Amino acid sequence: MLHEYLAWGGSILLLVHAGIHFNAILPWLAVAMLLINVASGLVGKFLLKRSLESLKSIRQVLMDTGLEKEAVDKKLFLDSIMVDAMKQWRTIHLPIAFVFGFFSLLHIITVFIFSK
Ligand code: HEM
Repeated sequence: MLHEYLAWGGSILLLVHAGIHFNAILPWLAVAMLLINVASGLVGKFLLKRSLESLKSIRQVLMDTGLEKEAVDKKLFLDSIMVDAMKQWRTIHLPIAFVFGFFSLLHIITVFIFSK
């Protein structure tokens, strides 16, 4: 929960800090990474949970109609693959966070190097 609150607070502060001007690419790349990271976090938190629940309930409905397990698996093949792919979100979330941190660090270093 702390991670999520800090992520929301930090993201809003960074968007305010970024403002509406374009002088440098590097800090905007960092902002892009920030937004992708927030999006991947939300996929993990909400979409994956909902997808697992809905896959489970559809499976139950199909089983209740009297279909064999193999037939149900066949019908839900694509949905299962999609849910499995979404389960990998942590594998994406973490490296993006590192890239975000890396661009941010470069931006901070360049600010100190080039500021007069
Ligand atoms: C201690 C941390 C930071 C410091 C001291 C800092 C400092 C600055 C300064 C001085 C500027 C103005 C540069 C100019 O007008 O040429 C700036 C702009 C900006 N910063 Fe930061 N920054 C920090 C962290 C971050 C982080 C973490 C991000 C991104 C996630 C970020 C994104 C931006 C953006 C998008 C701009 C606008 C660039 C533009 O005008 O094109 N900053 N920052």
